Amino acid sequence: MASRDQFNSRLGFILASAGSAVGLGNIWKFPFETGAGGGAAFVIVYLAFAFILCFPVMVAELAIGRKSQRNPVGAFKVLGYKKWAFIGYMGVAAGFLILSFYNVVAAWAFGYFVDMVLGRFDVGAHFGDFTKDWITVGSYGILFMGATAMVISRGVSGGIEKAAKILMPALLIMILALVAYALTLPHAMEGVKFYLSPDFSKITWQVVYKALGQAFFSLSLGMGALITYGSYVSRKTNIVSAAAIITVTDVSIAFLAGLMMFPFVAFLTEGDLVAMQNISGGPGFIFQTLPGIFQSFGDTLGIIVGAGFFLLLSFAAFTSTISLLEVPTSYMVDERKIPRKKATWIVATLIFLIGIPSMLSQGAVDWLGSFVQLPGMDHKIDFLTLVGLVANDTFLPLGGFLISVFTAYIWRKQNFNDEIAAGDEAIRGSLLQRYVDFAISYICPAILGFISIVTIFNTYVGIDILAWFE
Ligand code: TRP
Repeated sequence: MASRDQFNSRLGFILASAGSAVGLGNIWKFPFETGAGGGAAFVIVYLAFAFILCFPVMVAELAIGRKSQRNPVGAFKVLGYKKWAFIGYMGVAAGFLILSFYNVVAAWAFGYFVDMVLGRFDVGAHFGDFTKDWITVGSYGILFMGATAMVISRGVSGGIEKAAKILMPALLIMILALVAYALTLPHAMEGVKFYLSPDFSKITWQVVYKALGQAFFSLSLGMGALITYGSYVSRKTNIVSAAAIITVTDVSIAFLAGLMMFPFVAFLTEGDLVAMQNISGGPGFIFQTLPGIFQSFGDTLGIIVGAGFFLLLSFAAFTSTISLLEVPTSYMVDERKIPRKKATWIVATLIFLIGIPSMLSQGAVDWLGSFVQLPGMDHKIDFLTLVGLVANDTFLPLGGFLISVFTAYIWRKQNFNDEIAAGDEAIRGSLLQRYVDFAISYICPAILGFISIVTIFNTYVGIDILAWFE
């Protein structure tokens, strides 16, 4: 058997994992959740979750992957716990589901890039017409999925790593340039002030819950994406410091996205606080409001800034779709013994097909647009939102809970700590290692277990547990 493909360098591995983390979550979702959640107050809660809760789960995923050298399903089997392989199956299923709708939003981002290049700023005013137009969105969707599959079919070092080495530096340059430009706009400082002054009165349990979900999703945790990437890492790599770098990179990009977005908002609203609050706090902001703002910069500058922004968004989405596709593909390759190229195209095609109802639920087909009303909801939600609720909000925290329990109590801490130390003996007994050990045993199972229960009761039973605490 040919030896398993690996990342060629530690830097390549870190860039690929950071690429998985940095995505639509950072640039699209983070700023509007921050806007709705009290600015810096939300950011503080988000940061706390990222480091206290998510970072240890990331170390656990990487350790399980590296030790087993397998995809998430095979990993539990190779470690000797066949019964726990269901966590891996859940992860593969989550990969299918998340990518199915993530690709739709990625297609919007890329479509908007093309519109900006052509100076068609009025797409923003007609966002509904754009998402409704399934031929256009479907074509961009095929293009995006096809490009993702092209990278994945080339394997780890020749595909994922190479792509990350180009995309991530480009992304960093673009976001820094956009932040720098945004900060020169009139009223920019009022935007920054709104972003960075905490309004703790906005922090409700609901907001804390959102911040946790956002941190978890943003770091690509809970479905074994990092078990998979960890399985391609050499045993000489220190995975604790790698996880720390990935976490810091991810939150820094999210932070920069806010630093870019709020000056734009302040420019539009001329620094009016209430208007900033209302405009920035909605999911439509990027696709509806931003193009108009770009237009007001004038034709040439508007095209440069607008195209730059949506290219940035597309690149961020691309390194994430790559990691989402790699999880089910690696399962097909390891467990079903299907050659990588074939496995990639089968999985990509299937996921695209599963994504069609999500794509059509955004205006094209009415019944998909108001698809179900789950218990406790006062209106019907669309198909895309439903898939998001099942995969992002339910599977990921549940997966994270199970991974923590598995690591601490089934695989056991001795093995976990040995695997952590394999890359760097000095980590043994260090404060950081002792923290990870403590968190994975108590903090992560407790919080993630609680969150899973809250989500399941709230979404599927219609009982809002969080309301008891208000
Ligand atoms: N983290 C990415 C984002 O913020 C999305 C993503 C990529 C992801 N791979 C994942 C989320 C795996 C959960 C699991 O947009």
